[in-house]
Amino acid sequence: MEEKIASLRDVLKEADRVAALTGAGISAESGVPTFRGDEGLWRNYRATDLATPQAFARDPELVWEFYNWRRELISKVTYNPAHRALVELERIVPGFTLITQNVDGLHLLAGSRNLIEIHGNLWKVRCTKCREITLDRSPDMGTSPECKLCGGLLRPHVVWFGESLDPDILQQAIATSKACQVMLVIGTSSVVQPAASLALEAKSGGAVVAEINLESTPHSPFMDFTLHGKAGEIVPKLVENWA
Ligand code: OAD
Repeated sequence: MEEKIASLRDVLKEADRVAALTGAGISAESGVPTFRGDEGLWRNYRATDLATPQAFARDPELVWEFYNWRRELISKVTYNPAHRALVELERIVPGFTLITQNVDGLHLLAGSRNLIEIHGNLWKVRCTKCREITLDRSPDMGTSPECKLCGGLLRPHVVWFGESLDPDILQQAIATSKACQVMLVIGTSSVVQPAASLALEAKSGGAVVAEINLESTPHSPFMDFTLHGKAGEIVPKLVENWA
C-alpha cells in the first residue's frame, strides 16, 4: 500500500492538470451517512426512495422532514483530513479541479475553491414556482417552507434521482475530466450516472485514474491504481512528503 501511494504521488507531482471526483465515502468519516450502506436508512425509508421528484410531489412534508434531519445532522459535523488534503492539493497543483457528487458542503467548508458541485448543495433551496435559488443554513426549514419572493413551495436545491444535471455544470465536469492528466476517484460507488462516467471520460482522454475506496467498485478493473482503505487515511498521505 505505501509503495502504491508513493508511486501515485510521483504521478501527481508530474501533472499540472489534476481532477478529483468525490462521493459520499469521503464524508463518511465526518459522520455523514453514505447512500447505499445500511446507514442510508431513515425511519425505514431508503434515502434513494425519498430523494426523488415523485416522493416530493406525493408527500413534500415527508421529504422536508428527511432533509431537515440531514440538515441537522450535517450542521453538527465538519470536514475531515481527506477534505483538507484536497485543499492542500489545490494549493500545490497548478490546475486542480474538484468535482463532487456530495451536497453536504464539506469541501467548501474545508476551503476547496475550484469546486464543481454536480448534485447541488443541501444548504441551498429553490422555489418550485419562481425557481429563485437562495442560501439558507437553518437546520430546520419546517415542513412547508415558502419562497420569500412569491410564496411558492421551496425544495432542496439538489439533483434528485431521475432528474437531469444542470447542463452547464455537467459540461464543465466533462471538460475537466477529458482534460485532466490524473483523476482521483474517491469514496464513490460509481453506480450513479452521469457522475460515474466522468472517470471513463478521464481514462479515454489518456489520464491516469486512481480509485480510493473501502472496497472494489464496478470501475476498479480499469483503474490504474486501486487503493483500498479509508479516504481520511489515504488521501492525506498523497500530499505528505511532497517536496
Ligand atoms: P454511495 O453511498 O453510493 O457510495 C459510497 C462509497 O464510498 C462506497 O463505494 C463505499 O465503499 C465508499 N466508502 C465508504 N466509506 C468510505 C471511506 N471512509 N473511505 C473511502 N471510501 C468509503 O455514494 P455516492 O457514490 O456518492 O445522488 O452516490 C452517488 C450519488 O447517489 C449521490 O451523489 C447521491 C446518491 O444517491 C444524488 O443525491 C443525486
